[in-house]
Parts: sequence; structure tokens; C-alpha cells
Amino acid sequence: MDRIRIVGGNELRGTIPISGAKNAALPLMIASLLTPDTLTLENMPRLADVRLLMRILTNHGVDYAIDGKRPGDMPTSGQTLHLTARNIVDTTAPYELVSRMRASFWVIAPLIARMGEAKVSLPGGCAIGTRPVDLLLMALEKLGASIDIEGGYVIARAKGGLRGAEINFPMVTVSGTHTALMGAVMAKGHTLIRNAAREPEIADLAKCLNAIGAKIKGAGTSEIEVEGVSGLSGARHEVLPDRIETGTYAIAAAMTGGDVMLEKARPELLQAGLDVIEKAGAKVTVTNEGIRIQRNGAGISPVDVETEPFPGFPTDLQAQFMALMTMAKGTSRITETIFENRFMHVAELSRFGAHIRLEEDTAIVEGVSKLKGAPVMATDLRASVSLVIAALAAEGESTIHRVYHLDRGFEQLEQKLGACGAIVERISDPG
Ligand code: UD1
Repeated sequence: MDRIRIVGGNELRGTIPISGAKNAALPLMIASLLTPDTLTLENMPRLADVRLLMRILTNHGVDYAIDGKRPGDMPTSGQTLHLTARNIVDTTAPYELVSRMRASFWVIAPLIARMGEAKVSLPGGCAIGTRPVDLLLMALEKLGASIDIEGGYVIARAKGGLRGAEINFPMVTVSGTHTALMGAVMAKGHTLIRNAAREPEIADLAKCLNAIGAKIKGAGTSEIEVEGVSGLSGARHEVLPDRIETGTYAIAAAMTGGDVMLEKARPELLQAGLDVIEKAGAKVTVTNEGIRIQRNGAGISPVDVETEPFPGFPTDLQAQFMALMTMAKGTSRITETIFENRFMHVAELSRFGAHIRLEEDTAIVEGVSKLKGAPVMATDLRASVSLVIAALAAEGESTIHRVYHLDRGFEQLEQKLGACGAIVERISDPG
């Protein structure tokens, strides 16, 4: 299993190109199941989750092709992926594949929309709370599917096709909204989704679905309307930049000090995050090229944050921000409202000498003047990158074990940080 070795203490200086968003790329790939024509996705990140989803989709009968290198391409340039689901040959998504990535459960919606049936294993993914799928199933039932659960599988049927419906989500859910959208686009009649998630990745999926012939209005707001169409075609779509990767490197620059240009980053995707990073003492400047983060001299100020659905402060930056607060000049409170049990990084951050105590859903972080390098263990995707951030600022050497968590969601992490002056290397164990 690979490890990452980091020698801390260097400021980050340079340019980091921001990749396409993982959380947009995955539902966009899944949407290819809705159409027999080719969906071409540009600016796709090279990530373990993308490769795993490709395997899952090929199992259903999706053909794919990846464009080769083009003149001027950099190792960090996004890939272009062509996905064609001419014939769906299998409507079962097996446990062995779905248990490795929660988002792959979302194939249930396009499979039932196009084929009238789907058998999908209950999901796995990052171990951050119980993460049920009741609201996804509620949305499909509203659209006329019958749902049975047998032997760890959800069996959904709608032989006569799905029907438009009113879907009211009792809480904001990204997975529920993606499922409702993909279920509604070819349902007969009109669908209204209330209390929809407003995440930019939802709007990106809707933009792509409209490009292939869907009729969706209001995506990006809490009320989405869909007029069902009888079939969908192909299109080209460019994946939007990853706001969580943007926020992660912005926090890393605020943590180490220095001056970093986050190329292609878009501020409107992360305003709440940028505001908090600015309050913590970094200078944030938006330019045509992207977002520039500087912090020179002055220390880090404590800031209280609470995670919220978009446009609030994202739960996917909670761990990274906690790493920053471990070196703040004072005490901060970080409250997690989206997922229970999303504090597994607390024990690992403490290994660097951080002072953090938990009171129910709130972490109280007392800043210390220095962290010391340590061996630590990655526990989930975002938690593991918080350890990288702490290690970049810690005195001496750190080793982060189980980096496969990082590879799920961060493209070329060592290269991107290394190019800005960090001492970071991957150590691969033989076998
Ligand atoms: C997505 C993101 C993840 C991010 C999260 C919140 C992807 C691939 N993943 O996850 O990175 O952290 O949004 O921004 O895009 N819930 C239920 N019942 C359900 C569905 C959800 O109770 O049927 C609960 C969850 O347990 C959680 C909350 O709703 O407490 C939010 O979950 P949701 O927004 O659905 O997150 P994901 O789509 O899984």
C-alpha cells in the first residue's frame, strides 16, 4: 500500500491547476446510461473513483474511449471521455463494485428510467456516518417505481415507465436530487422537486442533461421543474472545476504561508469557503486566471464555522479547515451538521500535537504555535487531505498511510504540491 512522505515547513509558492470536479464527473458519467448516443465529457479528472465507475458502467454495457494526448496537453490537463450506452446489457450493479463507492448506487435512476428495472447493491463508500438511501428510494417511488429490498440489493421496477410527480425532500440531499433528476427526465409528464440540493454539481448535471435533450428548469435553486421527454441524444459537456480541490489548496496555502495561484478556480463555486479563509488571515484575490491566495507574516486567526448545504460552508472542507485552525492564534469551534461521525481526522490531527476536543457535533480547536511531524493514517477522502495540510506545516517528517483514500479524489496531489515547493513524495511498497 502506498504511503506519502512529507517534510514540512516550506511555504507554498507557484501555480496549481484545478482539475474537473469529481462530484460532478461521477453523476455525469452515470447520466450516459440514459441515452443510446455518445456523451462526451471534457475536463475529466484522472481519479481512482472515475476509473472504478468506468468499470461499473462497462458492466452495464457502456463503451468508452479516452482521447489520447493532444499538442500542448500537460499532465494535469483534463481528459476527454466518450461514453456510449448503445445497449444496456445488464441492469444489475453488483455488491463487489457498488460497495467500493457510494455514488455508484446512483445508476439505479437511469437504469430504471431507460429499462424499467434495476437491481443495485446497497452502497458503501467513505465511512462517514450511516449515509442511508431512503430518500433516493422515496424519490423513485414517487416517480412510480416499486421498490423491494432483498439480500442487500434494491430491486426497482417500473414496467410501464416512470411518471412525473411532486417530490418534496424533507432534508437537502445531493444524492437524492441527482436521483430525482435522472429519474424525472424521461418520466411521462411534469416533475417538481422541492427542497432540492443547490450544489453547483447538480446544476452541472442539469446543464448536461438539457444538452442531450432534457427539459429541466431551476437547477441550482431549491425548486427544480422537469418536463419529461421520450428520449435523449448525445452531446459534449465540459466538467466544471472542483470547488473542494480549490478550497483544499487555498487552505494549504493559508496554512503554510506563501503565494499560490489556483488556476481555473471559480470563486462563485466556493464563496462561503473563501470568506472563511479570508477571515482566517489569507488574502484572496480573484483574477482572470483563477484565485490567488497569499499569506505572509501575520499568523492565522481563529474562525468558527458550521457546515451547511450549498451555498454554505461545505462539509467536504471541514477536515481541511480544522487542520488550519490547529495553528490559529486562539480557539475556534467547528460544527458538522451534514454527517454524523465525520470527525475521524481529529485523532490523527492530534498526533501532530493539535489540541482538539469533541463536544457532540462540534470540535473545539485550541490553536498551538507549532505542529510536529508524525506517522498518521488516512481514514476517508477529505480527512486524509487534512493530514497532508497539517504535515505541510509541521516541523520535520510525516508519513501518511493508506493514501488510496486520497487517490479517490485528488489528482496528482504530490506533483501539484511539489511544483509549489513542498517536499512530498509517494513511497510505493513492492507487492
Ligand atoms: C455528496 C458528495 C459528498 C458530500 C455530500 C454533502 C458526491 C459524490 N458526494 O454526497 O462529497 O460530502 O454530498 O455535500 O457528490 N441522507 C439521508 N437519506 C438519503 C440520502 C441522504 O438521510 O437517502 C442524509 C445523509 O446521511 C447525510 C445528508 O443526507 O446526512 C446529506 O447527504 P447527501 O447530500 O445525499 O450526500 P451524498 O450525495 O452522499
